[in-house]
Amino acid sequence: MKRKIKKAAVIGSGVMGSGIAAHLAGAGIPVVMLDIVPKDLEEGQSRSSIAETSKKQLLKQKPSPIFNKTVLKLIETGNLEDDLDKLKDCDWVVEVIVENVNIKKMLFKNITPYLNEDAILSSNTSGIPIKSMTEDFEDGLKKRFLVTHFFNPVRYLKLLELIPGELTDPDLMDFMKDFGENTLGKGVVLGKDTPNFVGNRIGVFALANAMRIALEDGLTPQQVDAVLGKAMSRPGSAVFGTNDLVGIDTMVHVVKNSYEALVNDEMRDTFEMPEFIEKMMEKGLLGRKVKKGFFTRDKDKQKLQLDLATMEYVPAEKPDWKCIKKAKEVSDPGERIKVVISTDDPGGKLAWKNTASTLIYSLNRLGEIADDIVNIDNGMKWGFNWDLGPFEIWDAIGVKESAERMKADGYDVPEKLNILLENGETFYKTIDGDRYYFDLIKKDYVKVPVRDNVIFLNKLKSTGKVLAENEGADILDLGDGVICCSVHTKMNTVDDKVIEMLNRAVDMVEDRYEALVIGSQAQHFGAGANIFMLLQAAEEGRWWEVEEITQAFQNANMRLKYCEKPVVTAPYGLTLGGACEITMHGHRAVAAVETYIGLVEVGVGLLPAGGGTKELLIRTLN
Ligand SMILES: NC(=O)c1ccc[n+]([C@@H]2O[C@H](COP(=O)([O-])OP(=O)(O)OC[C@H]3O[C@@H](n4cnc5c(N)ncnc54)[C@H](O)[C@@H]3O)[C@@H](O)[C@H]2O)c1
Repeated sequence: MKRKIKKAAVIGSGVMGSGIAAHLAGAGIPVVMLDIVPKDLEEGQSRSSIAETSKKQLLKQKPSPIFNKTVLKLIETGNLEDDLDKLKDCDWVVEVIVENVNIKKMLFKNITPYLNEDAILSSNTSGIPIKSMTEDFEDGLKKRFLVTHFFNPVRYLKLLELIPGELTDPDLMDFMKDFGENTLGKGVVLGKDTPNFVGNRIGVFALANAMRIALEDGLTPQQVDAVLGKAMSRPGSAVFGTNDLVGIDTMVHVVKNSYEALVNDEMRDTFEMPEFIEKMMEKGLLGRKVKKGFFTRDKDKQKLQLDLATMEYVPAEKPDWKCIKKAKEVSDPGERIKVVISTDDPGGKLAWKNTASTLIYSLNRLGEIADDIVNIDNGMKWGFNWDLGPFEIWDAIGVKESAERMKADGYDVPEKLNILLENGETFYKTIDGDRYYFDLIKKDYVKVPVRDNVIFLNKLKSTGKVLAENEGADILDLGDGVICCSVHTKMNTVDDKVIEMLNRAVDMVEDRYEALVIGSQAQHFGAGANIFMLLQAAEEGRWWEVEEITQAFQNANMRLKYCEKPVVTAPYGLTLGGACEITMHGHRAVAAVETYIGLVEVGVGLLPAGGGTKELLIRTLN
């Protein structure tokens, strides 16, 4: 059977339900969003007011869960008493109601008679076992059931965990993986039916472990966050900031569930709630939503932190530690982690302890929560915004050396690590431009699965497909007569070297190729022109140089515009100023959904001088 999801239904319109509905609508899929009828329905109040209000809220939330207002037209609201008929033509029904197995089971019982006989049914549960949710299902329905675990906020966190039940049809899993990746733009991780699945199992452990270390070593929230954020290649919200962001009550729920469910976990004690969290709950210090959590601001907007012993707010002083200073000087995420954990100061010790425990915990989970290290690494990168997953970190800090340090410090290093060390040195390696991971069962390296519609520019670079290169950009052979000009300066800013390569790319494509793509696989498409270069020239009064650079960029952009062969730009992420101008001069732009594009020069007191002002005028006149 050739499946297609032409229409979907989301049951539950709370934080996650409305976020999922918005994301599906953004992908062009009509959605029915149902919720309960309000318990104390007032006269004149709509019976679907819960779902209707949630839909309206989508316009007000920040950051916005919707790509633009028009997608709201695709969301139809209703209630679970009058509108179940609306499920009949839905190809996928996802349950996103309160995390309570009995309520979920009751809901499934009520909606099953209304499901189309091929419809896919899924739950967004954070960790209720599939077996207990589906025990009343007929086998036919079990085959069409899975967990689709989105992360909050749905639009911005790339991770989608897919968990099959014992009877889930493998073809359905393949279909949902493809749908998640290609239609919803998600990074799919295949996990197993275990408490908290993949991302939260490791992520919550790492957070809970860091809080324990803070208590044991007498560290303040600000000290912990200064180290376990950017310095350790993790998001700036780090540990205590992440708790504030997610909400202390939500975190308590997840951590408590972990403790109760993980009876045989060797690190179960880590999930025992510290006393200060209980006190925060009593005092209503629930995090950002009430503007008071581990951090708050005083009336002068000064940052304060909670003293974990006295529960009073005190100034949040930044630690003056060597490891943080050193980290700022290193741009490679793996190198940075290595530098921090090797520094002999309180921050370095904290980083080492948290890393050692998290790496060991992750290795112990292999086979239990996911079949391979790739899924675990992706779970942490896409669900928790870590720059590197645990096994990538392990490679970066040296598997053998760090295992020796762990043993010397009394950590219980899993036996399994020896299988790797007897057969190789790292969890990952690259052979002929392809990435391989170590499979502990096969005791050998296995190719990391990649989607066959994706071209990896790095692979082309390492396999002799570079047609030209300089310090600013490469020109690569994509095959089929198509070449790609790929910028690789810091933040992909445009400078004289990039301009040189744009010109060369036009020369080459006009001479002997069929089409030119301008794209890259760096974090952003481009943060603008290198204005530092212009500033320096201006400060030193070298006006002719400013004119020359501007003219050169305008000329290069005009050559793109009037190129005899098609020029396709592929903007994504930050596409500002000069990068936006390049995009405006291509014949077609294939833009990623998350593209932040604009002529932002006026913000720094400049005109868009690479041709952007002219393009803006042309577009306005047309
Ligand atoms: N919030 C998160 O960060 C997050 C992340 C991943 C997964 N989840 C999971 O997603 C699900 C929903 O979580 P949420 O954060 O959106 O919760 P929420 O409290 O924001 O929304 C829950 C929804 O369930 C509805 N509901 C309440 N009682 C109901 C009943 N008897 N029958 C049908 N619907 C009922 C409510 O009206 C509400 O719209 C849960 O299973 C949760 O574990 C949450």
